[in-house]
Order: sequence, then C-alpha cells, then structure tokens
Amino acid sequence: MSSESAVTPGWASEEPILEVRNLEKHYVKSTGWLESFFADEKRVRAVDGVSLSIDRGEIFSVVGESGCGKTTLGKTLLRVIEPTEGEIRFKGTDLSSLSSTEMQEMREHVQIVYQDPFEALNPKRTVNGLLRQPMEIHDITSRDEQRERIYRALEDVNLLPVEDYLDRYPEELSGGQLQRVLFARALVLDPEFIVADEPSSMLDASVRARVLDLIDELRNERDISFFIITHDIGAARYLSDRIGVMYLGRIVEMGSADGIVEDPKHPYSKALIESIPSPDPREPLGSSGIGSEVPEPVDLPIGCRFHPRCPAATEHCRRADPEWRSVPSETDDGRMTECHEVEPKQQPPE
Ligand SMILES: Nc1ncnc2c1ncn2[C@@H]1O[C@H](COP(=O)(O)OP(=O)(O)O)[C@@H](O)[C@H]1O
Ligand SMILES: [Mg+2]
Repeated sequence: MSSESAVTPGWASEEPILEVRNLEKHYVKSTGWLESFFADEKRVRAVDGVSLSIDRGEIFSVVGESGCGKTTLGKTLLRVIEPTEGEIRFKGTDLSSLSSTEMQEMREHVQIVYQDPFEALNPKRTVNGLLRQPMEIHDITSRDEQRERIYRALEDVNLLPVEDYLDRYPEELSGGQLQRVLFARALVLDPEFIVADEPSSMLDASVRARVLDLIDELRNERDISFFIITHDIGAARYLSDRIGVMYLGRIVEMGSADGIVEDPKHPYSKALIESIPSPDPREPLGSSGIGSEVPEPVDLPIGCRFHPRCPAATEHCRRADPEWRSVPSETDDGRMTECHEVEPKQQPPE
C-alpha cells in the first residue's frame, strides 16, 4: 500500500468496494414550446462532480435536504441511470466499460432498494413471487436453489416463520414488513453492495429503528457494504461509519459519522445538524435553520453554491469556487470539506 492517500481527495489507497470520480448527472429540463422558443434548454445539474470511495463492509450515508441530488447520485452510482460524466469502479472494474450484458451480470452484486415499498412492489404478486422475480431475471432457475435463497433472505430480514409470509400479498403487510420484503428481494441475489434510498422514511419511529438495526445486521452477517440515502442525520449517525453531506449536487463535507454530527465544519452541515430537533439520534430531521427550500440546481450561482443561504459568506465566496480539501477536526477523522471560511489543514513538514 502506498502512502499517497492524501493525493486525491475522497479516493482511498486501499482497494475499496466502490469508487467514483468526478461523477456528474445532468438532466435536460423540458420546457414548453413557447418557453423553448425564447430560452435555451435548462440543465439541472443534479449531481455535479462527486468523488468518493466506499470501503468493503462500510456503511456510508449521504445526507442533505430534499432536492439536493441524493437519489440521482445513488442511481448513477450503480448505472441505473447513465452518468453524464465521470468514472465508477466496482471492486476495481470500470463500470462504464461494461456492455449492457456485462452490466446486467454485475447487477447481481450491486442492488438498489427504493424508497417507497408500495410503489416498488407489484401488488399482484405474493412475497414468494416477488422474491423469485429477480432470480429469474438472473437465470437462477433451479427451484431448490430459489427456495433456499428465499428462505435465507426472509430469515435474514426477520420475517418469521417464513411460511407465514410466502403467500401474502403486499396489501396484507405493514409498512415495516414491506420494507423488509424490499431488502429480502435484494438479498436473494446475494449482493456485495446495496444502495438504500431513504430506507426508513416511510416508517414510524419504532419500526424505523428496527430497520436501521436490520441494515447493521446485514452488514455484519453478510458482509454487505451500504450506501444509504437519507435526509435524516440522526439515522445516518446511528447507522453509518462515515457521512457525506450533499448540497446542490456536490458533497460539501465528508468525515466520520460522529465527527460530522459533533463537530461539523461546513456552514451547511452546521445548519442541518442544528436543526435536529431531538437528542434521540433515531428521530428524523426537522426543518433546517437556513430558511427556504433548496434551490433547483439550474443557473447555479457563481462562487460557492451555498453562498446565497450561508450566514458566513464573504465577498470572496460570491466570486470563487471553494476547493475540496482536508481540514482539521477534533476527532482527526480525515475530514474533507469545500468552504473558503474553514482553515485548511497544515501540511506536515517534509
Ligand atoms: N428525471 C428528472 N428530470 C429532471 N430533473 C430531475 C429528475 N430527477 C430529479 N431531478 C431534479 O434533480 C434534482 C435532484 O433530485 P433528487 O436526486 O431526487 O434529489 P433528492 O433525492 O436529494 O431529493 C432536483 O432538482 C430534481 O428536481
Ligand atoms: Mg430522494
């Protein structure tokens, strides 16, 4: 292993399970014909230059307000939607170099669990049918093998006894049970990496805590790495090793989960954390203290993209883009941020 870990920010030197570099996803916003007559097409820069790496067995959470690009990042990471720019490596393999057939094979190892179980699960299929479906797509057709995988998945998500659930339809299950079925459906393919989009947002508090514990168990027992998308910093802290704070398409701060919550550096992270209403880390995030909604990432401001809402913004912030750099923190957690007003880490003398 080399000692060059400081060379590329967010790019670890050990082989991580997933790495992305300069990832971008832009949407072209459709305008009405009259509007398009007068204006150029608008580009929504939903993900706008994200670099990060996730270690094997790590739980990494990305937090930020609604609309800041979390879902788009999660989908782009796994090429569920195609990135506009950038590089994605899964266990060293460049995903963009894969043909659609190879990418299809890769999907066995990388799974995404969507936010809304009511939307994600076909109401006309039983639990058994829902869990068989991904295996049929991936040519796991032996009935014995399917049965074994379904039993193991349902046991792992604690839907027990398994026989009680196999023939049930989604409408016969509670929100928490449906969320577990969603995880089981990912597990039947025995993945190594799971993106989970707001896995607890549709659930009430006690059920939410149990779903978070389930993710931790799956990491420990199945050695799965997780990329968790959430607007709930409390849940992110409770669950993850590291947190990335996202604002308008960029990760603006990254560090250990405790470090980010106890000692945030970026003014946006500070505002998010100050808005946590309850000392119970499993409670959801309340309204943020920085006022209005996240603007749409079209016509981004010049300079730091957070400056219009930032209480610490200076003239310099209105003019120049901040650089992504190492900054000191109390816990020395390898903190990185992009903010002009946070003093960079002193380089150790040669
Ligand atoms: N399919 C799409 N077409 C156009 N704009 C989109 C599309 N999906 C998301 N967006 C826009 O991209 C931005 C990021 O959205 P999203 O990734 O859903 O954020 P989050 O998950 O953090 O709420 C938002 O401004 C949203 O309106
Ligand atoms: Mg989302």
